[in-house]
Amino acid sequence: MAFLNKRTFRRKVLLLLLYITGISTAWNLSMSFGFYLQNIECGCGKRLEQDHPWFMQRFQKNITPLLTSNYTLSQEAFNWWKKVQGEKRDIMFFKQTTQKIFELFPAFPPVPEPGLDGCRTCAVVGNSGTLKRSHYGKLIDHHTSVIRINYGKTKGFEQDVGRRTTHRVMYPESSSGLDNSTHLVLFPFRIKDLEWLVGAFTTDIDMKSSKSNKKMSAANKNLVMVLNPAFMKYVHQSWLQGKGYYPSTGFMTVILALHICDEVSVFGFGADSDGNWSHYWEVLRNKNLKTGAHPGSVEYDIILELDKRGKLDFYRGFL
Ligand code: C5P
Repeated sequence: MAFLNKRTFRRKVLLLLLYITGISTAWNLSMSFGFYLQNIECGCGKRLEQDHPWFMQRFQKNITPLLTSNYTLSQEAFNWWKKVQGEKRDIMFFKQTTQKIFELFPAFPPVPEPGLDGCRTCAVVGNSGTLKRSHYGKLIDHHTSVIRINYGKTKGFEQDVGRRTTHRVMYPESSSGLDNSTHLVLFPFRIKDLEWLVGAFTTDIDMKSSKSNKKMSAANKNLVMVLNPAFMKYVHQSWLQGKGYYPSTGFMTVILALHICDEVSVFGFGADSDGNWSHYWEVLRNKNLKTGAHPGSVEYDIILELDKRGKLDFYRGFL
């Protein structure tokens, strides 16, 4: 009996061990299989985790890309931003204006939604003439978010630039009407731009630009996002290493996408052979525009480098 008990006991221990080993093996297998599947499906976030010194010297994971109601802008960042377009008012006025912003718009801006596979894929579509005859339209529309900039049109250009627009980056001078499902992403260069935003969605503020005010009547205030001025400074200093007067709207959008999306594809960036930032929807008349206050070729080279290092996919189009 004692022998049987001993044998039964040993068998039970063995079974228990087998059971534990089985569970842990199954666990490990399922974990690695799940991880494998996740990586096959979209590789979300994978690209940013890899530790290339070139990238890590530039990319600041903890920066706040979009203004939130509980964010406090530093005096240092405000001083940098003030100089960009000669802002005369002080940081207190900035704070009061942002308070008004968050009485009207989401306290925490809605970031891009993931697709069915849990991955937020973003297409950033610049306005370069290189998009002409590119046939990128379907590819662009395939992303979960399609971010367009300023006047980037779709009507009549669908084959090359796609149909969908989930986000429209703008500032007052480049604003256009939006439908109810498109995110307005304001890049504010002055306090006046923040005041414009409030005025564009309300009627109680006297707007100089009443045309823009009317145009925003269909837009959805719950989808509004405002770029953090400190993010502009970060792009200028960390990414452009202070080159140019300040970064272009398009380049800031590319870096913003790296922060708020899992996978980024970039389309429609690159000057024409004269070094001008021509657009895909028009023939450039003034051949001397170049890239203005922005270091166009530096920005372009960084996009190429990011592509080379696998941080984004750059689709060059055709010149
Ligand atoms: O011309 P616009 O400023 O509306 O274009 C949006 C962005 O697209 C620019 O800020 C720039 O970054 C990019 N662009 C470009 N090459 C062009 C035209 C625009 O890289 N030929």
